[in-house]
This record gives sequence, structure tokens and C-alpha cells, in this order.
Amino acid sequence: MVNDLVQLGAGVAGPPAELIFGDWYPALRARELRVGKMTKAMLLGVPLVLGRKKDGEIFAMRDLCPHRGIPLSAGWFDGETVQCKYHGWRFEPCGGQCVEIPSLTQFETLDPTKIYAGAYPCEERDGYAWVYLPEPGTGRVGDALPPVPELPKFSQRFRSAHLVADLPCNVDHGIIGLMDPAHGPFVHQAWWWRSRASIHEKEKHFEPLNDHENSGRNSGFRMSAHAPSGNSAPYKLLGVYGEPITTTIDFVLPNRRYETIRCGDKWFSSLTTVTPVTPSTCRIDVIAAWNIFYSVPFVTSIATFFGARFVRQDQQTMIEQAEGLRFHPGLMLIDDADKPAKWYFALKQARLKGSGEHPLSGPVTLHWRS
Ligand code: FES
Ligand SMILES: [Fe+2]
Repeated sequence: MVNDLVQLGAGVAGPPAELIFGDWYPALRARELRVGKMTKAMLLGVPLVLGRKKDGEIFAMRDLCPHRGIPLSAGWFDGETVQCKYHGWRFEPCGGQCVEIPSLTQFETLDPTKIYAGAYPCEERDGYAWVYLPEPGTGRVGDALPPVPELPKFSQRFRSAHLVADLPCNVDHGIIGLMDPAHGPFVHQAWWWRSRASIHEKEKHFEPLNDHENSGRNSGFRMSAHAPSGNSAPYKLLGVYGEPITTTIDFVLPNRRYETIRCGDKWFSSLTTVTPVTPSTCRIDVIAAWNIFYSVPFVTSIATFFGARFVRQDQQTMIEQAEGLRFHPGLMLIDDADKPAKWYFALKQARLKGSGEHPLSGPVTLHWRS
């Protein structure tokens, strides 16, 4: 079930953020990629052209011809090679190797196969085309790439849905909005979720997620397993199975939030990513899967409807926030409700410096009202 939300027009864009290269980001839904068709996308300010070859393999090229810079997407793709519109150079799109320069004659020694267009590792996972964006200027990528992020699933059979929304703010605001616990009763007021009247004090336990082996590249933190908020109707519904419910929420660099709810052999799992489209805009993608109420008809439509409404409320708030951010106001992060945001900024800086430092030395308990 697809539920693409309102695309933003030439909306406002807030200040830029520093970007984390050297990682996988979802570019678009893989089913948009059809043999012989080229689809444009943008990740971290890099223009991309994606497509699917006749053999089913998907590719992501930098959408610029290495000859004179015209977008390759202006040219042709026959299912095997991408041909530039300007002088007809042809490229194998997965590796970017040039396979033909039509203007060459027998008198020239230039070997076209020594020339490469930009091509990025591209993998299909959970219905997304994930693209690995290397540090600029690091040349072609080797084989030792980190694994492609994946939504955890706990049974063979499950249903799934996804949502997408463009946000007119930079990736940092998108991410801290995602982990912000205090906006729920205000932004997400609804009879089936929670209302201002239901605000009460919460105590949540966090622990560091270290990634020492990789100098902290996928560091993060976990909101430890606990019984979820008693004040939200969907969670009450889950109680019908009569077994204890646990949820964990993990944040993992650079931009991923995993939420897992388990109740006996029933489960719900979601992966939310906030992806920088440009340094000052981002996009939120949610992919969810579950086996709860597997046999209840319409559950996918119902879940997508509520999920879409939820994401739209966040999106609307960030559109309004972006109007304010244009004026570069000073901002605040308070304890304890904004503590996860502080950890995010510390983790991000550690990753950008490659220091492997972690802001949490052990378990931490936070208190807030929401
Ligand atoms: S600009 Fe692409 S072939 Fe010349
Ligand atoms: Fe929200």
C-alpha cells in the first residue's frame, strides 16, 4: 500500500546542516524503477539518475556526464547502457564505465573504457533503492561497504506499508523532531492517540548502542524495552493477546529510528529514516511491517491511514517551523526532554570527526511529561 503525501512546492528551506557521507540512504521506492526508464532523485545535494537494467539489477549514477556535465537523464537508456544526449557517449550504468565514444576514429588511441561516469552502489531492500554516497573526492568505492540497513522482521508472513513526506528543514531538525518526546500531546492530538489531558510524567531508560568495531559509525542509543504508554488506544488494542508487550526504540547513526513492538509471537516493526535531500531539506520515509491482526481485513489500509495522518502532522509542524528558521533564531535544547537530541548532535560530531566517542557511558534514566 502506497501513500505518498503532499510534495512540497518551492517552499521555504531552513539553514543547511553538515552531512554524513559514507553511508546508505534510501533514494526512492524501487518499484518506480522500470527497465528502460530513467528516474531522477537527489541525495545529500548530489543529483542522481536511477534505473533498472534488463537483468533486473538497479543502478544509481551521478546525473552528470563526465564529458561536459549535461545530465545523463536527458539522454537514453535501452535497458543495458545509458547514452548521453550531447555526444552519445555510452556507459554501463552499474559501474559507470564508458563503453563507447561515437566520435572516435581508428586514428585515435583514447580508450573509452578508461573513462568512468559517477556510479554509486545501489541495492534494493524493503522496497527502497538504497544508495551508498561516498565522501566527496574519495574516488570509486571499494567492496568493503557497511551492510544495507534493513527493517527487522520476526516471522515469514507479514504485512507492510510505507509512507513518505518531504520536509523543508535540514536533516538535523528532521531527526530531532523524530526523537522528540514532548511534542506528542500537542502535534499528535487525536482521540485514538493521546490528548493534552493525558499528559503525565514518564520515566524512560536509555542505554548506549556502541559500535566500537567500526569506530562508532553506527553508534546510537536505545530506549530500553518497556511496556508502552498506557494512554494510547492502539497499544491497548494489542493487549487483547494477553501477553506482556515490550517495545524498543533505537536511534542509529546517521539517520535511522527502529521501533519494535513484540507481544508473544505477534510483532510490529518500523524503520524511519530522515534523509538529507539537500543540505537544507530532507525527506522522511517510514517502512513498517507487522503480523498482528494478520487476518483482519483492511488492517493495512487502516494502519496506513493512521500512519499517514501522524506523519502529516509532523510534516505540517516542520513546514511552520521552517518559516521561523529562515530568520536564524537562537535555539534551545532542555533537559530531560531534549536530551536525546543532545546525544544525537554529540554522536554526529563524533562520527564526523571519526573519534568513536559516545555521549553515554552507561544506562541513563530520563524524566519528562508527555
Ligand atoms: S556531454 Fe555527454 S557525451 Fe558529451
Ligand atoms: Fe511526531
